[in-house]
Amino acid sequence: MRKKIVAGNWKMNKTLDEAIALTSEVVNMIKDEVSGQVEVVLCVPSLYLITLKKYTDGAAKISLGAQNCHEKPSGAYTGEISAPMLKAIGIPYVIIGHSERRQYFGETNEQLAEKINITLENGLTPIFCCGESLDQRENHDFIGFVKNQITESLFHLDAGQLAQVVVAYEPIWAIGTGLTASAEQAQEMHAALRGHLAEKYGSDVAEEISILYGGSVGAANAAELFANPDVDGGLVGGASLKSRDFTDIVKAR
Ligand code: PGA
Repeated sequence: MRKKIVAGNWKMNKTLDEAIALTSEVVNMIKDEVSGQVEVVLCVPSLYLITLKKYTDGAAKISLGAQNCHEKPSGAYTGEISAPMLKAIGIPYVIIGHSERRQYFGETNEQLAEKINITLENGLTPIFCCGESLDQRENHDFIGFVKNQITESLFHLDAGQLAQVVVAYEPIWAIGTGLTASAEQAQEMHAALRGHLAEKYGSDVAEEISILYGGSVGAANAAELFANPDVDGGLVGGASLKSRDFTDIVKAR
């Protein structure tokens, strides 16, 4: 059975005090309200990881993730953080290839393949993001485009390595816009991506990969999206900044 995951992506939000308050609230609400098999991941600004770990350690079903790491293990890369650093402080997850990193920091599929490698070498679980723009959806082979992101960043892995990866499909036109893919659009893409993984690795391996949906997931649409057979949870931006909204999304999974 593949893992059900709801991950919050806080992006560049919250002061330290706010971050502690939000984490404490989410930890308590999840403890009291969430039953069943879902793993919750808070992908917070890396500056807060060590502090917030004190609040999530020992709490059931919840762990922390970073939002990015560099593809090299160490060196003269001012401002960056590395996968070995995340490993050393006991952080299990890291988002790789978010569309904002691709758009504003020029991250390419090839570079993301290297980032995937270094996260796996360090025993981290990468949440690999992929997704098409509105132009690609309206005017091009958008499913082929997203499949190609997976081919170029993941298909050098062997089956055992791939099994450590979580995929997040996030249509760029749905991120932070309030526009969500319909349940049918999400299922269509998720099934296509699982089929693409199955062609390369076989269906037994593909069936074990968690594929999350991201893009304006909220308390009102989460249950419908998550009900799809190939949608294994969500990567949640804006709604992860409010404990009530985020916990309601977790409960929908
Ligand atoms: P959103 O962001 O939920 O605010 O659309 C999702 C994401 O960027 O991961």
